[in-house]
Amino acid sequence: MAAEAEEIRGVGHSVRRKEDDRFIRGAGNYIDDIHLPGMLHMAILRSPFAHAKLNSVDGSRAQELEGVIAVVTGELMAQHNLAWMPTLSGDTEAVLVTDKVRFQGQEVAAVIATDPYIAKDALELIDVDYEPLGVVISPQQAEADDAPVIRDEKEGQTDNHIYHWESGDQGATDTAFAQADKVVSLDTWYPRSHPSPLETCGCVADVNPATGQATIYMTSQAPQLIRTVFALVAGLPEEKIRIVSPDIGGGFGNKVPVYPGYVIATAASLLLGHPVKWIEDRTENLISTGFARDFWMHGEMALNDDGTMTGLRVSLKADEGAFHADAQPSKFKVGLFHIVSGSYDLPAAHVVADGYYTNKAPGGVAYRCSFRVTEASYMIERLVQNAAYELGMDPADLRKKNFVEKDQFPYKSATGFEYDSGDYRGAMDLALEKVGYEQLRKEQAEAREQGRLIGIGLASFTEVVGAGPHKDYDILGIKMNDGAELRVHPTGKAHLKISSQTQGQGHETTFAQIVAEELGIQPEDVKVTHGDSDDTPYGLGTYASRSTPTVGAATAMVSRKLRDKARKLAAHLLEVSDEDVEFAQGRFTVKGAPDKAVTIQDVAFAAYTNFPDGMEAGLEGVTYYDPPNLTYPFGTYAVVVEVDADTGQWKVNRMIAVDDCGVRINPMIVEGQIHGGLCEGFGIAAMEQITFDEEGNCIGANFLDYLLPTAWETPTFELGETVTPSPHHPIGAKGVGESATVGSPAAFVNAVIDALWPLGVRNIDMPLTSGKVWEAIQNAQTS
Ligand code: CDP
Repeated sequence: MAAEAEEIRGVGHSVRRKEDDRFIRGAGNYIDDIHLPGMLHMAILRSPFAHAKLNSVDGSRAQELEGVIAVVTGELMAQHNLAWMPTLSGDTEAVLVTDKVRFQGQEVAAVIATDPYIAKDALELIDVDYEPLGVVISPQQAEADDAPVIRDEKEGQTDNHIYHWESGDQGATDTAFAQADKVVSLDTWYPRSHPSPLETCGCVADVNPATGQATIYMTSQAPQLIRTVFALVAGLPEEKIRIVSPDIGGGFGNKVPVYPGYVIATAASLLLGHPVKWIEDRTENLISTGFARDFWMHGEMALNDDGTMTGLRVSLKADEGAFHADAQPSKFKVGLFHIVSGSYDLPAAHVVADGYYTNKAPGGVAYRCSFRVTEASYMIERLVQNAAYELGMDPADLRKKNFVEKDQFPYKSATGFEYDSGDYRGAMDLALEKVGYEQLRKEQAEAREQGRLIGIGLASFTEVVGAGPHKDYDILGIKMNDGAELRVHPTGKAHLKISSQTQGQGHETTFAQIVAEELGIQPEDVKVTHGDSDDTPYGLGTYASRSTPTVGAATAMVSRKLRDKARKLAAHLLEVSDEDVEFAQGRFTVKGAPDKAVTIQDVAFAAYTNFPDGMEAGLEGVTYYDPPNLTYPFGTYAVVVEVDADTGQWKVNRMIAVDDCGVRINPMIVEGQIHGGLCEGFGIAAMEQITFDEEGNCIGANFLDYLLPTAWETPTFELGETVTPSPHHPIGAKGVGESATVGSPAAFVNAVIDALWPLGVRNIDMPLTSGKVWEAIQNAQTS
């Protein structure tokens, strides 16, 4: 019988990341580490023009280069009905151009060669005749009457408009504005940014001509979903397609879409009977793969003189690029942007969104945020700060006056969300205490008298993660439910297979901890498999901070399923009835006789060796989880900056981040996630922006032009925590991965505006480069 059990390192333990062992030894297995016998290499020719008619593509000179096996053109793809493919938003996208190019960097042709360098060299030998057309680089240009129609190949498409979408109650909102004492408005642009994962996108496509089996190793955040899409695109039987996403070097939403490169490499492998590898370079990744944001937003808030918020109106124009290609729950055209009422008890709100085609790469991906929530959080938090100043109130007081209070949950928002839980006041109080808010305001006033510009910026965000409940959430009709499969071996070790795909978040550790919590098997004894569509349950993958709310929940539920059977086995071993068996920390004990015990390991062995008559052998199961609701992490961030009015330079003196993601499975991993997100939020506030000139040339095509924050620029972060468990999640956890990116940009910008408000500066669009800050000061002083 059982010896005294050691403490189980389940939920709440900062277990060291199991996966780091292979990563720090340089033994990770990324796409470029895969070498298959007879493998060929592919390089892609991309358009130098943003919009141009394609008169001809001639690959004959390239074909003659020694080592070149094939030149693939749009015409060839069209012969196999593969020149176009469906996108995850239900649009179509060109795989290789047949008619005209629609953005700079678009795929025009591909070369397959024996060596990656030969393939690249051969691209220069492809002769293409382009006829440049007028270019559209913003939604404002896209909607002009004389704008060239970018998607003229689509039947019935006579302009560049993609969708119109509304949420909330327009009538009630109009009434609130008509009756308001004060209306505050703000126009702001959330610039185009890029997720820039460390590992670029790529694949090795291996179609076996003898069996028809297609194994595609690819950088995908959603291997199961992508297998289904591939079956639809290529017309291959789904059981003959295996998508393997091995170690992924960062995704951040960038590795959700299906890129033409994957499809061309698969088609080439099918036609040539050899495996084909394609690895993007950095410029290709930046100019052609899923960007983020690019929202032009107008917000208006109605308030009473005492600061009570009574209504919110937001309209936005989304620059979707040349193809509408982001993964978006099909019911919600602009993702979950309508969470824009944030943490405030707004009785009326109305959101209007319009999407446009432009001559830019497609995207709009959930870059470290749930679908479009970052843009929403930025809009409301900037607007609230301006409202406070215009009413002569302190921004912290205005927020507190209007927060949804603890006892109002579950709270139905004016745009239809049901917030599961929250304690916004608690998070803000902690942030204010940590930053020493009252004292800081005094110091700020003193500094101003000495001519120093100190700014204090707050942001109180509400995230919404874990898409989602099958009633409302699907991609291309496939419901966003996820699976977990668990087997406990006879020796008491376990194997968990999950439908999420880690890209650095530590799922191999945290999901093993959930099993540990529920079954009492130590996390190091739980192997976690993900990323192989032949060896994991179906699911929609990892993005939009959905893993913990969906797959984490499925893991807890399947563990509980096994625990129920284990209890029966324990009762059999202990010779008592099921009801007399208690479970804790991996031990089943007899009620009232705690010395009579068996361990989960004893029970696992019995599942294969000594089970009662009528019971099936084994200890394994699978669960698909349909979340009853989304989860709503939240927090308050406080930033202190000092701005140099002569140069426009600003530096961060302090950054306090109080996050509430419910129960933390692994506090160390959560802190790492928050650090990463804050760093990305800072980067966007301070320096990141993909720009285009008037001809549609992408200016952010390398890391000299597209600036990412390094350890040198990144401020020190001071973290704080409150814990408000999600009432419906099996272990009370909410997602966290993205909250910091969602919440922090507004806090940084609000801090700079706070410093400059007395000088007359009301708004500066991100990124806040010193040049822009300096210019804003000059403009305010001369106007
Ligand atoms: O979907 P994604 O994996 O990006 O995000 P997530 O579900 O928010 O989780 C990011 C990482 O933090 C995962 O390893 C989670 O298991 C972990 N996490 C945690 O330990 N506790 C929470 N309450 C939320 C997430």
